[in-house]
This record gives sequence, structure tokens and C-alpha cells, in this order.
Amino acid sequence: MPAANKDSDGGWKSFIWNSERKEFLGRTGGSWFKIIVFYVVFYACLAGIFVGTIQAMLLTLSNYKPTYQDRVAPPGLSHTPRSVKGEIFFSMNDETTYEKIVKSMTDLLDKYDLKNQQDMGKYEDCGTAAGDYKNRGDLDGDAGERRACRFDKELLGKCSGTTDKNFGFKDGKPCVIVKLNRIVNFRPKPPKSNETLPTEAQANFQPFVLPMYCTNKREEDKHKISGIEYFGLAKGGFPLQYYPYYGKLLHPQYLQPLVAIKFNNLTFDEDLRIECKVFGANIDYSEKDRYQGRFEFKLNIKSS
Ligand SMILES: *[C@@H]1O[C@H](CO)[C@@H](O)[C@H](O)[C@H]1NC(C)=O
Ligand SMILES: *[C@@H]1O[C@H](CO)[C@@H](O)[C@H](O)[C@H]1NC(C)=O
Repeated sequence: MPAANKDSDGGWKSFIWNSERKEFLGRTGGSWFKIIVFYVVFYACLAGIFVGTIQAMLLTLSNYKPTYQDRVAPPGLSHTPRSVKGEIFFSMNDETTYEKIVKSMTDLLDKYDLKNQQDMGKYEDCGTAAGDYKNRGDLDGDAGERRACRFDKELLGKCSGTTDKNFGFKDGKPCVIVKLNRIVNFRPKPPKSNETLPTEAQANFQPFVLPMYCTNKREEDKHKISGIEYFGLAKGGFPLQYYPYYGKLLHPQYLQPLVAIKFNNLTFDEDLRIECKVFGANIDYSEKDRYQGRFEFKLNIKSS
């Protein structure tokens, strides 16, 4: 056994460095040199092809305009407070149960404070009534950055955080703030007529507006949810003059219009399911995506 060991040791050693044939790991210096040169050239070519195809593809893309947009899903809705697992639970008498919520709403509305929208080169007034789409030219770099419509958080009335710093949570009359997610160059189309809306939502119909409407999700909650108020530039809807959005590069200051919804008369100490929807001719809903054109949440307000 010791002899065999010695033999194999010798085999290893001579494999690593064979002094007779001047081979390192079985190859001479010249052979190693060739193989290294081969691989360097080979990988350089691969990298070249890789970079080349990506560059060629980038040349066909615009920085400003999405190339393929024919299959973009209709926009989703996002709401603040964001609900963990779709649940908003809090206790009216315990500030710690809603202070995070209040902070998230205050943070969101900070951008919507008029004093942060004073730069005339970046913002402009788009009127206090709902109006048509605002054309800001072609979707390319020629005209540079576009101005954004101002949106004053005071439009959100009782949900602006100015008079009621707790957004109604303290009184069990919570506010929810809703945005329509941005899609570059998307023009949301309002409903064709008030008859395309569910009967209860028809009162929210107005020209140049995509109306929002919230209601009970389950039949049994019907009498437990009432006194819903809507706030925003177009009460209860998204006005068209904020569209289209020109994208991050051309529209860096863009402000999405907001809708605030205040639930004034909720039954306490019970799970309530509320569904909010936006209505429009090119707004769709999907069974798979619970945030496309709508959202729902479970609310439970502890009164003690
Ligand atoms: C719906 O529109 C019709 C015609 O424009 C109008 O007469 C009717 O009052 C509207 N209904 C509601 C609920 O606003
Ligand atoms: C509040 O809701 C209750 C039912 O839970 C109803 O009886 C009452 O009339 C509502 N109050 C207002 C002001 O809508």
C-alpha cells in the first residue's frame, strides 16, 4: 500500500508539472498560450455579437414612446391607505392603529401641495372644471419636457388632511385616496352615456370625467355602508385634461389626478366589504386582476 501511494503521488506531481516534457497540467507553454488566445478571441466575439444585437435593437426603440402598446391592459386603480391583504382594520379610539395610515396619506399628498407646484416652467393651471385631453405635442424629444397640470390637494375637501389631520380615521369616517395608474400615451375614455353606468352610480356621471363609484360588495352589507362622499377636481372622478401622460422623461412632474372617497356612515365592529370601480369606455375589469379598473377591501372599525 505505501508503495502504491507513492506511485500515485508521483503521478499527480508529474501531471501538474512534468519536468521531462516541460508540461504543466498536461500541456506545454506554447499549447497553453494558443488555447488562451483562442478563448479570449472566442469570448470577445461572443460579447461583440451580444452588444451588437442589443445596440441594433435599441436603435429601433424610442426613448419616449412605447413601441408595442396594442396589448396594454387597461389601467389599474391604486389606493391609499394600501391595505394589507385587502384589509383595513383600525380602532377609532387607539391612534396607534391608524397612525401609519395617516402618515402614508400625508406623504402622498405632500406632492399635491400647491406650494410645491409653483415652478411656471413645470406646472400650469388646467382649470377647475373637467375638460378635454390636453395635447402637448408629439411623443418625442423635440419639444423637450412638458408641463404638468397642477392638482391642489385642497380639492380633496375633508380628505385633504388640512382641516382633519386624521383623514376621518379618528371619527370612524375614513377617507381613501384613489389614483388611476399611469400608462404612457393612454387616453382614458369616459362612459358614452349615463345609461352605461349602474343605476346607483349614474349620479356621478359628468362630461369629460371617468367617474368612480363605491358600494357594498356583499348584499348583506347593503344597509351598513352609506353616506359616501367623493372629492376631487371633478367630484368623484378622473378629469380628462390630466391625460395623456407623456412618460417619465418628458413629463417628470406629472401629477395623477386624485379622487378621495369618504365613508361617513359605516357600521362599526363588523367586517364590511367595499368595492370601488372606475367607469369608462376603455376601462375593463378582469376576474384575474383584482386591481384592474376596481379594487375592493375589507374594513373593520372598532368603536371601542
Ligand atoms: C341620464 O341622462 C339623461 C339624458 O342625457 C337624463 O335625462 C337623465 O336625467 C340622466 N340620469 C341621471 C341619473 O343623471
Ligand atoms: C346611517 O346608516 C344607518 C343604517 O346603518 C341609517 O339608519 C341612517 O339613516 C344612516 N344615516 C345617514 C345620515 O345616512
